[in-house]
Amino acid sequence: MMKKTIVAALSILACGTGWAADGTPATADAQLIKQGEYLSRAGDCIACHTAKDGKPFAGGLGIESPLGTIYSTNITPDKDTGIGNYTLEDFDRAVRHGVAKDGHSLYPAMPYTAYAKVTPDDVKALYAYFMHGVEPVKQANKDTDITWPLSMRWPLGVWRWMFAPDVATAPVTATPANDADKQALLRGQYLVEGLGHCSTCHTPRGFALQEKALTDADGSAFLSGGVVEGWLAKNLRGDMADGLGSWSKEDIAAFLKSGRNGHSAAFGGMAQVVQDSTQHLTDADVNAIAVYLKSLPPVNKNATQPLAYNDTVAQALRSGKDTSDGAMTFLNNCAACHRSTGKGYAETFPQLALSSTVNSADPASLIHIVLKGAQMPGTSAAPTAYAMPGFDWRLTDKEVADVVTFVRSSWGNQGAAVSASDVAKVRKEVGAAKAPAR
Ligand code: HEC
Ligand code: HEC
Ligand code: HEC
Repeated sequence: MMKKTIVAALSILACGTGWAADGTPATADAQLIKQGEYLSRAGDCIACHTAKDGKPFAGGLGIESPLGTIYSTNITPDKDTGIGNYTLEDFDRAVRHGVAKDGHSLYPAMPYTAYAKVTPDDVKALYAYFMHGVEPVKQANKDTDITWPLSMRWPLGVWRWMFAPDVATAPVTATPANDADKQALLRGQYLVEGLGHCSTCHTPRGFALQEKALTDADGSAFLSGGVVEGWLAKNLRGDMADGLGSWSKEDIAAFLKSGRNGHSAAFGGMAQVVQDSTQHLTDADVNAIAVYLKSLPPVNKNATQPLAYNDTVAQALRSGKDTSDGAMTFLNNCAACHRSTGKGYAETFPQLALSSTVNSADPASLIHIVLKGAQMPGTSAAPTAYAMPGFDWRLTDKEVADVVTFVRSSWGNQGAAVSASDVAKVRKEVGAAKAPAR
């Protein structure tokens, strides 16, 4: 059985030295499988294709969409319920073209518009891993909860035709080959646009839920920020106040590797991205991503001044002079960790002063984190997963609005005020506990 699979795989992969007679992959193929495993980390396939407490890659995770819930599928090499019968060509059609083996179009909840950028060689390595490095699991796929007529798949073909980019045909190379900076830039672009599918969360969507830009060449909407599951996946462009303008290349690399740095810590969907994907990348690849992100010009080309720290609020808090509702709520609930200076404790309790999360125009993440709290990922580089408690049960909508507005206007921050009705809306959307009665 094992042998048969391998022989079949061999003829498809046609990759060099082949397999030993006892059915164990020969070194060159073991190498390819290993490379495929690494690439599957870069693509974070496990995040969507594994249900909560489910077997790796067996699918069944519900992904909310405006149409209804879409379930990821079993991509283990099980022949009956997984993709064990997929040839390399079938696999490629699903991953890069968005078409399943039986010809139906996939929902773009599977980020094939990003994976279209993956080179044929990398698809081959991924295929080798999914056929030979992943444990087969028998688990039937679930149907979507989308009701007819929206459940008809043919419009997805039209969508694909309108929005899916051409797939990559050639490896990514830079000339001259000895230009290390250029190599890193291209490698970073390849990972961000392709396997990393960063744009799935970090780019705003248009009328048909398509990403407004799939590359920087499509315009400055690319990676300029999008809202996913009630979290703002932030602007990753060069903007000073709400983007990565004030982060160094090293800051970005540290964030992706350890889930935290002197500016911020990962939360919401990003905590899982760091946990399952970016922390496993080589230093060279994480550095390449950082180099590429630092090359993206800001959305707002006129706002080139970084925010500057201002300590009047810290002094007023310390001397008891600021007794506004927001300041009092902050002192009673937040200052123990984030300090009255708003500077927190680096890599433990993130700073709120000059934070790009705090200064983003859309306060979704800020309200969400105050209501429900969050936990950093534990990573091999920084194992302690510090957590922030949620205040949904403790603070009313007005108190949350007051404290968020206070944070957004203190220590040099320049975020706009937030209202109690903004908070009420988020409270409902993210399923937070009811506000306490006062
Ligand atoms: C953001 C979530 C997400 C990520 C990340 C993701 N997938 Fe998917 N994938 C899905 C969903 C959802 C479906 C099912 C779509 C449908 O039924 O229309 C799917 C379908 C597939 C299919 C088609 C399976 C079939 O039964 O025909 C393959 C193959 C696949 N994914 C492979 C991968 C690989 C390989 C990776 C990593 C490189 C990956 N996926 C990453 C969400 C994801
Ligand atoms: C599943 C959705 C999702 C994907 C995919 C995703 N991110 Fe994020 N990302 C978020 C969210 C939500 C935040 C805001 C929370 C935070 O700061 O941790 C974020 C924040 C960040 C931050 C911190 C920005 C700041 O100023 O605090 C960086 C850097 C980042 N992402 C880089 C990336 C890169 C690089 C990729 C692709 C390899 C990526 N993200 C893929 C959801 C995502
Ligand atoms: C027990 C300590 C603690 C308390 C109290 C606390 N926080 Fe936090 N806060 C944290 C930790 C830890 C994180 C990082 C969470 C993560 O990354 O998942 C965080 C993250 C944040 C962030 C995101 C910052 C960034 O860029 O990463 C904001 C904003 C925030 N807290 C605001 C508040 C406010 C407002 C209050 C009071 C209502 C508060 N926190 C109370 C520990 C605390």
